[in-house]
Amino acid sequence: MSTRTLTRDLLEWFDKNGRDLPWREKGGAHSDAYAVWISEIMLQQTTVKTVIPYFHKWMKRFPTVRSLARAPLEEILLMWQGLGYYTRAKKIYECAQVLVQQYDGQFPPSKKELLKLPGIGPYTSSSIMAFAFNKPETVIDGNVVRVLARLDGIEEPVTPPDFEARAQELTSQERPADYASAIMDLGATVCLPANPECLFCPWQKECKAFHMGLTDKIPSIKKPKKLFKRGNVFWIENDKGEVLLRKREGKGLLSGLTEFPWNEDETFPFEADWEKGGVVSHTFTHFHLDLTLYKTRLAAEKELPENVGGFFTRTEDFNNYPFSTLMKKVIKQATGKKSSPREKGHGGEPVQKLFS
Ligand code: ADE
Repeated sequence: MSTRTLTRDLLEWFDKNGRDLPWREKGGAHSDAYAVWISEIMLQQTTVKTVIPYFHKWMKRFPTVRSLARAPLEEILLMWQGLGYYTRAKKIYECAQVLVQQYDGQFPPSKKELLKLPGIGPYTSSSIMAFAFNKPETVIDGNVVRVLARLDGIEEPVTPPDFEARAQELTSQERPADYASAIMDLGATVCLPANPECLFCPWQKECKAFHMGLTDKIPSIKKPKKLFKRGNVFWIENDKGEVLLRKREGKGLLSGLTEFPWNEDETFPFEADWEKGGVVSHTFTHFHLDLTLYKTRLAAEKELPENVGGFFTRTEDFNNYPFSTLMKKVIKQATGKKSSPREKGHGGEPVQKLFS
C-alpha cells in the first residue's frame, strides 16, 4: 500500500472517529494559535482527561495572549495548581510578555521564529505550525511513536527522532492539521499501549506488528539512563525540640519551597554528634537522589554556627510551610510519622503534586 493510501485511509478514519477536543477544530487550521499553544503545553506530561477542565478554566480567565500577559504571575501559578511541572507555567508567562512586546500579541507563522520564544521547543513549534497554520510539520509524541513503530514492525528500542523521516512522508500535504490530530487519536483510542483495538484500525492491513503478533512487544522504548545522585540531609533540633528549616533560594526546581539543610557533597554543616537516621530516596524526572539522614540535638540554640542559616520551627507547625515530596519523605523518615504539610489552606491541591 502506498504512503498516500495510508494517509488517505487515516484521514477517512479520522473524519468519522476523531475526538472532539476543546482546543481542536476539525477541517483545517485552528483559528486560535493561542489556544493551540496553551493546550500543547498543558498536554506535555499530562493526560487529555486531566487537561480538559484546566483548559476550559484557563481560556475563560485568560482568553487572549494580552489578558495573560497582564495578569500577575501568582494568578497564573494558581491556575496551574495540580498540573505539576511549574516551569511550564512560568515559561508561558514569559512567552506571553515577549509575544505582546515583540509580536503584537500574535504567534509568528514561522517555525524559526516560534523557536526563539521562551518555552517553545521543536515539538511545540511543530504543533503550532501544524494545528494553527495547517503546515505539514511532523508532530511526534508517544502515541505517534507507538503507531509508527507498530506499522513498520520495529522491534529495536526507539525514540521519537527515529521516526522523523517516516512521519514526514506520511504527513498529509493537503490536510496537515487534521493529519496531526488523526495520528494522535489513532494512538490514543485504537493503537493503545496494551490491548490495542486492531479490528478498528484503518492501518491494520499494513501493520507489521499486527501480522507478526507483536503488538504487545512493540514499541520497545529506549529509556534514557537516569542520573544517580546522593547527599546528606540534616535534622537539627534545638533544646526545645524545634527543627531547623530554611527556604530554598535560587531558580531551580525546588526554589521557594521549605527544606531541611541538605547538600550533594556529603559534607556536614558543623561538628556535632550526628546520629544516622536512614536513607531517603526520591526519583525526579531526570535523576534519582539518595539522601542520608543525620540527626542531632543542640544543647542550646547559640551552638548553631553563624554560617548555618534558617529558622527553628515546631513540627506541629510544619503544615504552614510548602515542602516538596522529597522533604516530606525526610519528615516521615525522621519522625516515623506521615505528614501532609500545607495540604490545608492551599487551594486543595497537595504541594507534592506541584513540585515532585
Ligand atoms: N497530545 C499532545 N497534543 C495533543 C493534541 N493536540 N490532541 C490530543 N492529544 C495531544
